[in-house]
Amino acid sequence: MSQDTLTVTDNRTGRTYELPITDDTIRAMDLRQIKVNDTDFGMMAYDPGYTNTASCRSAITYIDGEKGILRHRGYPIEELAEKGTFLETAYLVLNGELPTAAQLQEWHEGITHHTIVHENIKELMSSFRYDAHPMGMFVSTVAALSTFYPSAKDVEDAEVRDANIKRLIAKVPTIAAFSYRHSRGLPYNYPHNELSYTGNFLHMMFKMTEPEYRIHPALERALDMLFILHIDHEQNCSTTTMRGIGSAMADPYSAVAGAAAALYGPLHGGANQAVLEMLHEIGDVKNIPEYVEGCKKGERRLMGFGHRVYKNYDPRAKLIKDVAQEVFEVTGRNPLLDVALELEKIALEDEYFVKRKLYPNVDFYSGLIYQAMNLPPQMFPVLFAIPRTVGWLAQWCEMLDDGDQRIARPRQVYVGHDVREYVPMDQR
Ligand code: CMC
Repeated sequence: MSQDTLTVTDNRTGRTYELPITDDTIRAMDLRQIKVNDTDFGMMAYDPGYTNTASCRSAITYIDGEKGILRHRGYPIEELAEKGTFLETAYLVLNGELPTAAQLQEWHEGITHHTIVHENIKELMSSFRYDAHPMGMFVSTVAALSTFYPSAKDVEDAEVRDANIKRLIAKVPTIAAFSYRHSRGLPYNYPHNELSYTGNFLHMMFKMTEPEYRIHPALERALDMLFILHIDHEQNCSTTTMRGIGSAMADPYSAVAGAAAALYGPLHGGANQAVLEMLHEIGDVKNIPEYVEGCKKGERRLMGFGHRVYKNYDPRAKLIKDVAQEVFEVTGRNPLLDVALELEKIALEDEYFVKRKLYPNVDFYSGLIYQAMNLPPQMFPVLFAIPRTVGWLAQWCEMLDDGDQRIARPRQVYVGHDVREYVPMDQR
């Protein structure tokens, strides 16, 4: 008997099946042959939240949650964050290799020349209610972009795909900044092509009436690094949404909008806003024990703690903690940092959190940095969506080029009524 197989005995029938194992996985479709009789549909795997289901084979991001390892295309996140830039890492994630100097320059120029949005997009955005949430505006406006580029539907044409990937990466900071300016009742700033990706974003966010907006290089670099840390995280909720929408051959604007909508959820991209709100609510170090008790009783969750995959310190959280110190040297110390540090210390020693392997995740410190940089909490999910657009697009391309992939269509275990007779209205 081959060693790379799994032998399954169905005790209902006494029959034995041998299922091939590849990369430590069996194919769920191989279970279908397990039947009690010929009319039986066949065995399925029940996995709400896909906690143990590999939906694809991917070469983009490697995570070892137990050891706290994150790599993109084989490169450790620590090295990319310390030595690389966001656009360079974006190129790597999308193309599989680090760019040469010439490739990076061409890539940079390609992105820079697509940062402007059609004036109609500006008008569309200005029609949102004055207090519209920037993430709601972001999701809707990215979706609207599909109507400006109808040829984007031709997802199997490599040239069309590349052009729209550049457009999306270039335009998401513009849309993000416009959504912020709208929420503040401020005029929109057009992109400044001489600046770096993050420098231009900060310029569009914050330039007022001064002739030239000056960005502190340490803050520009900190944001660039935060963008690197958020670039991709394999098959999470929003990426799965991206692949799901993309599997129907939808254009990338619609798919990115859908992925961003998933990211809007407080358990995903909204968590750093929730962390900051939590830190404000706690307010003082002396209130921490009572707050933590509430978490342990299940009254609330300790936001910024825990992760579906990491059962160890999230490597991104470690890097962000270091960046936080650099940012605070420029902006002054965020008073909530003391609350965060003490909360982390208590939680890491408390049996409840230790037993459940609940460590700080990427969102625990990022909100404090953003706040110190005057980036308001409502913008946090948008700040996540900008770099993650790269990851979504890389995963989308990989999915389109993967001959194994078909339209996403999970099964269900039907637990509802058997057939019933319609009851007329006067008899109900
Ligand atoms: N505070 C208190 N208890 C928690 C927390 C938390 N933050 N997270 C998990 N638990 C407990 C949970 O109550 C459960 O306990 P028990 O076994 O007694 O019922 C146990 O830990 C396992 O929790 P789970 O809900 O099965 O874990 P999950 O893998 O489904 O959830 C999570 C992962 C990230 C949704 C969750 O840890 C959470 O809600 N964290 C707070 C929100 C947050 O910080 N989200 C950002 C995630 S990182 C960004 C990203 O990649 O999107």
